[in-house]
Amino acid sequence: GAPVEADISDLKPGEMKVFEWRGKPVWILKRTPEMMASLAKTEDKVADPKSEKPFTMDMPEYCKNQARSRKEHSELLVTVGICSHLGCSPSSKFQAGAQPSLPDDWAGGFLCPCHGSTFDLAGRVYKNKPAPQNLDVPRYMFLSDTKVIIG
Ligand code: FES
Repeated sequence: GAPVEADISDLKPGEMKVFEWRGKPVWILKRTPEMMASLAKTEDKVADPKSEKPFTMDMPEYCKNQARSRKEHSELLVTVGICSHLGCSPSSKFQAGAQPSLPDDWAGGFLCPCHGSTFDLAGRVYKNKPAPQNLDVPRYMFLSDTKVIIG
């Protein structure tokens, strides 16, 4: 499939936009400093903190860290919104108390409606969930501060 150019000029901190790439939803989430800080707290709660077990694609080196993002805009999460269990699309749950099934210390992230897998704000799956792997991070690069090429 062809690469997709994503315009994120109107993306505000804490907001997410969805783009389509190879028929899949790709999320771009602009994380706030608080959201970034939450990743240190989920580090020991997620199954694969360094993204060593890929899901459907060979993930780029720059996603094998806590933020799973490129250094030049580490606040931006670019991830494929498809659950690694049976392929449902998780929904974003950024608020604590958004759902009874979320843990009390929920720092925000994503919840798969199908069988309850939860993911942190870097798309890393929590331990002991049906989904075995983190959400895919596709290859991407920045054309400018407001334009991302996916693929
Ligand atoms: Fe997401 Fe089953 S498809 S938990």
